[in-house]
Amino acid sequence: MRFDAGTLLDHESFYSVCPEVLEKHIADRCRFPNGVTVDPFCGTGGNINQLAKTCRKVLAMDIDGTKLELARHIVGVYGCAKNIEFRKNDFFGGPSGQRANIVVTSPPWGGLEYLRQDSYSPLVLGEAYGGGEAIARIARSMAPKLTLHLPRTVDKSEYDDLCTYLYSVRSDRQEAMFYSVEI
Ligand SMILES: C[S@@+](CC[C@H](N)C(=O)[O-])C[C@H]1O[C@@H](n2cnc3c(N)ncnc32)[C@H](O)[C@@H]1O
Repeated sequence: MRFDAGTLLDHESFYSVCPEVLEKHIADRCRFPNGVTVDPFCGTGGNINQLAKTCRKVLAMDIDGTKLELARHIVGVYGCAKNIEFRKNDFFGGPSGQRANIVVTSPPWGGLEYLRQDSYSPLVLGEAYGGGEAIARIARSMAPKLTLHLPRTVDKSEYDDLCTYLYSVRSDRQEAMFYSVEI
């Protein structure tokens, strides 16, 4: 984040914003120069400012209006506002009807609790709303591909189960296009 250039974050975003090196890695792996990418949990815009460089159009959504305002400001700082459309949306309210090439997201991990756990279950990701399966199911209704940014402590067998449930393939198969990015 370019703090010297005027980037602003709210309290939560200081720990939840995606580090820039990962933003770049994810955007590079999710390159759709002629396609549409949706980030349904865009927060203050960590991922979208890099996705805007590798995709034709980015639809950035979040439930929190303040974060959306900060994200609008940040993409201006990064000079990539042109191909980003913002929308306030509750992802768990159901399918948005939006179709895209890929859903790229760092969903809420449940605060900082994951740092104290030896193993993180993707099935409890967004637990209050139906877990990782709900996130993946709704994302699947929007796009054939999904990238989930998960903690490095993610339980690999549960992660495999999630991929198998959704795509009938193991997570090491390219078709699933699931990446677990280590930080
Ligand atoms: C890990 S943060 C995303 C960080 C973002 N990738 C970034 O780099 O700034 C998760 C985001 O999910 C949002 N969120 C939580 N519940 C949501 C919901 N039901 N629908 C949409 N967004 C939600 C939070 O407001 C928060 O901004």
